[in-house]
Amino acid sequence: MSQPKVLALVGGICTDSLNLKLFEFFKETAGARFSLDRFKIETLPFFSQDIENDPPSVVTEFKSRIKASDAVLIVTPEYNRSFPGVLKNALDWGSRPYGQNLWPGKPAGIIGTSPGAIGTFGAQNQLRQVLSFLDLRTMSSPEFYFTFPKELSGGKLPGPSSDFLKLYVDKFEEWVAWHLKAR
Ligand SMILES: Cc1cc2nc3c(=O)[nH]c(=O)nc-3n(C[C@H](O)[C@H](O)[C@H](O)COP(=O)(O)O)c2cc1C
Repeated sequence: MSQPKVLALVGGICTDSLNLKLFEFFKETAGARFSLDRFKIETLPFFSQDIENDPPSVVTEFKSRIKASDAVLIVTPEYNRSFPGVLKNALDWGSRPYGQNLWPGKPAGIIGTSPGAIGTFGAQNQLRQVLSFLDLRTMSSPEFYFTFPKELSGGKLPGPSSDFLKLYVDKFEEWVAWHLKAR
């Protein structure tokens, strides 16, 4: 069987984004087990119903990447105990026009990191509610919250976090495979 195609949405869009780093660790850990396709959600315009029926080409491209994906991975920062607007904007684009929601049935995983003690729990908790409404099938366990250390020794994740990321990747692979089989 070919690798599942996983569309990755990374909500950290600054140059030195910690969540982009976490996504790089995920990629390294997953190796060739998924075909990971990151769409740069910061290139999407703000969603507006004025343009939803005739959107710019970047939106059309985004929608075709959603359609082509078997699963979705969301890597979220935490902004004010929620997830960033840039992520919500991308999710909204994929859900519209009314009746043409492209997300239903797709298995999804969420990971995230922040320097704060709860390592994006607040963001992920709110994100789950939105993904549930959009009818994505979000893996509930394990959850991956990660307090990003001030310095990474040798540019590597600390051992226990690296082991936990391996476990997360294993479980996500199983979760995606189960949904693809059931399709
Ligand atoms: C507008 C804003 C709100 C933030 N709110 C939170 C928060 O609620 N909890 C938290 O742990 N960190 C918060 N932070 C700090 C972010 O976790 C930190 O900037 C992180 O590096 C952002 O992720 P990124 O590096 O992937 O962009 C906030 C940062 C910004 C800019």
